[in-house]
Parts: sequence; C-alpha cells; structure tokens
Amino acid sequence: MKNIKINLSEKDIPRKWYNLAADLPTAMLPPLNYDGKPVDPAMLAKIFPGNLLEQEMSPKRWIDIPQEILEILYRWRPAPLRRAVYLEQFLKTPARIYYKDESVSPAGSHKPNTAVAQAWYNKQFGIKKLTTETGAGQWGSALSFACNLLGLHCKVYMVRISFDQKPLRKALMQAWGGDCVPSPSPDTKIGQEILAKMPDTPGSLGIAISEAIEDALADETGKTRYSLGSVLNHVLLHQTIIGLEAKKQLAHAREKKVDVIIGCAGGGSNFAGLAFPFIADKIHGKKIKIIPVEPSACPKMTKGKFMYDFGDVAGKTPLLPMFSLGHNFIPPSIHAGGLRYHGMAPLVSQAAVEGLVEPKAYDQLKCYEAAFTWAKTEGTICAPETSHAIACVIDEAKKAKEEGKEKVILFNYSGHGLMDLLGYEKYLTGKLEAFHLSHEDVKKALSNLEHFPKAEMRKTGKW
Ligand SMILES: Cc1ncc(COP(=O)(O)O)c(C=O)c1O
Repeated sequence: MKNIKINLSEKDIPRKWYNLAADLPTAMLPPLNYDGKPVDPAMLAKIFPGNLLEQEMSPKRWIDIPQEILEILYRWRPAPLRRAVYLEQFLKTPARIYYKDESVSPAGSHKPNTAVAQAWYNKQFGIKKLTTETGAGQWGSALSFACNLLGLHCKVYMVRISFDQKPLRKALMQAWGGDCVPSPSPDTKIGQEILAKMPDTPGSLGIAISEAIEDALADETGKTRYSLGSVLNHVLLHQTIIGLEAKKQLAHAREKKVDVIIGCAGGGSNFAGLAFPFIADKIHGKKIKIIPVEPSACPKMTKGKFMYDFGDVAGKTPLLPMFSLGHNFIPPSIHAGGLRYHGMAPLVSQAAVEGLVEPKAYDQLKCYEAAFTWAKTEGTICAPETSHAIACVIDEAKKAKEEGKEKVILFNYSGHGLMDLLGYEKYLTGKLEAFHLSHEDVKKALSNLEHFPKAEMRKTGKW
C-alpha cells in the first residue's frame, strides 16, 4: 500500500517563518516614491502597522512565529501532504506527484495562513479595523475569519466580476462578521470616479486595493489599517510555513530529492509559500525546476516587464520593483479571479530575474480540462486558480513519462473550488473562452509608464 496521506502532528509544526530575502544572491531593489526618492516611512505607517513593516524590511533569515498564532493555525495545520496516486495511475507516469493540501483551512485556501498573522500583529498594535480587497473572495473570506477570531472589524472590497460570479462568498464573509461590497463601489472617492467613467467595468484587484487603502486612510482615529493578501514580503513570509512543512513530510515519505515544484501565481503568495524554502536549496546547489504558473490572460512574468510600478490603480502604494503589465491594466474576466493581478511579488520577481524560477502561462480552457481530469481521478474540485498548477503538473508528469524518469513533482493545492462551480458549469456548456494577451496588448498596457523610475535587472548569471 502506498503512503498517500502524509501528516505531521501539532508538535512538528514549524516555529519560524523563512525569509528568502536573506539568501537571494542579489539584494532586492527598495520600494520608491513616484519621484524616485526613498519611501517616507511615515506614509507607510498610516497604511500598515509598525510590527508588520518591520517584517516587511527584515534582513533576518528566520522569524519566530508567535505561540498565539500557532494556537489558531492548529485548527488546520500542519496541513496534509498528499500523493496523487490516482492521477499518476491515470497518466501512467513514473513521476511521483505530491501536493500540499491548503484547501483544508476554514476558508478553503492558503490565505488564512497570513490572514491570521496579519490580524494578530494589527491587534497587538492597537488596531480595531482592517480594510482589504479580494479577487475570487478567498482572501476576503480568510481575513473575515481571522478578524472574527481576534475581535477586529473587517471591510472587504470585492472585484465586481467575482462578486457577480461568486455571490455566496459574500455570505461566507458575513458569516464571519465581515462586511463585503462590490468594487468599484460608491463608498470611496476613487470608486465613485471610476463608476462615473466606466459604469460597467468588471473591476480589478488594482481598483479594489485603491478603495481599501483610501478607506483605511480616511479613519481619523488612526485605528484602521489596510491588509494585503499577497505580493508584499511579509505576506509571502507567513506563507512559507507551507514549504517548511512539506520538507518535513517529504522526508517522512522517504523522498531524498524533489525535481519539480509548481504553484499557480496571482500576486505570488501560495507559490512563494511552497517554493521559497526549496529556492534556498537551489541557491545552495540543488537542482530543482521551480515553476510559477500564471494565466495567459494576465501574463505579467512571461510577457510583462520588470519595472517600478504601483500596486494599485490610483497609485496609493509605493512603487514596487516587479514584473508588471502596468497598474492600469484590467485583465479579461477569467474565472481564476485570484490570478487577475497586474503585478508579481517583488521577491518572486527578483527570483525570476535571477533565473531561479521558470514562469509559464496557461489559458483557462486548458486549466479547466486539467481540473476535470483531477476531479475524475483524485476526486476533489479544485479552485480555478489551482487548476493552473494542475495543468502544469500534468504536462510535467507526461514529460517524465516520455523521458522515462522517476521524477518527484510537488505542487501547491492552493484551494478548493466548491464555491466556484459556475466556471465549471460554463466549461461544460461550452461558454468559456481562452484568452491570450498579445505582445501588442501588453505594449499598450505599458505605454504611458515609460517615465517611471527604471528598475535595474540585477543578476549573478548563475542560473
Ligand atoms: C485558491 C487560490 N489560489 C491562488 C490564488 C492566487 O494568489 P497568490 O498568488 O497570492 O497565491 C488565490 C487568490 O485569491 C486563490 O484564492
């Protein structure tokens, strides 16, 4: 009998997060103001609490996970590592396919790993309310769940297309006490302006972020902060518990090496959470292929440009050094709402510049096909975002078969899709389209950003 569920006990949970910034061979470029000058810390302190800003800038390799955070995470962590033997048999591949099952969290994805940490640090800092954006609704649900446990108010701006596609996500947020509105909304100035210009816009994560930041800054008591579900260093840091657990579990499964690591990539957090502890191994000499998978409708790493860009539409964030399609870019309305973000996390972007990761792009039709193969073999319904990782896993497993190699493939099963069945239904009734952004579209999206400070592509050339 093959070992297909590899569990860790609570006592084996990692007690520190891993910070890739400490090991990257080239230093990260700093965030900048629009004028190219260093960011004013006082401006950032109005948006984020000081303790999280400290983590954001930290050069330390390991950061302790407070015991009170672990006590909350024990509800679902350590999360299982599973082996996809039924998919392996179907594909007749010699590859062994493992996945971290992040769908077992209360909100159904990896997002609560950082939601709990962020809510906890904000509470420690005396904050009473958090505002945020959400794409597919997974992050808004996760933050509502965490705020409820820690006694904070939570206001979520949900990208309108996802709000319409996934109406029950709002009910889930409300069940945990969160307040959810479609974005753009009339609740903020930027929302009102965009609605006046584009009343039928599907919205974007960039717009929803602008609204959430405006809301946080409007609180004159100073007790509201903004919380981001991906992209920033501290968010990726909190997610590394996934890869650190996976390492211990692979050792339990007596695997001595991993050949391929795969994760879908929206802002980069679930990919980073799994991959960063393995990127550290790659930096220190191990041979591992590490693939972030993005949608061909929003291909920032495969077709975008490494540049300084805003994280949001209204330009309320500092300029971040990242692969981007331009902050004004509104991606086509694919069902993987969590992957509709114009930029990629600076840490993942720098790893891509170094050649430590090899990004790929897949279209949603191929991804839904993979989701159905998964449902019919492994049995579970994956999130549309996760289906991007699965499509790539299937390709890599087929390649191992062609090469006759017993590769070990590890991927992040970032969430379940039980609240995303509308996309499945559209696929079954032939109503889904494949979107491929052309180089022309990308050029157009980036056209008015030439005057931004230039981001130098620093790399050692080792990978
Ligand atoms: C299930 C799931 N996977 C992946 C993502 C993509 O986000 P990230 O790249 O930050 O992991 C999301 C975002 O909402 C998500 O809900």
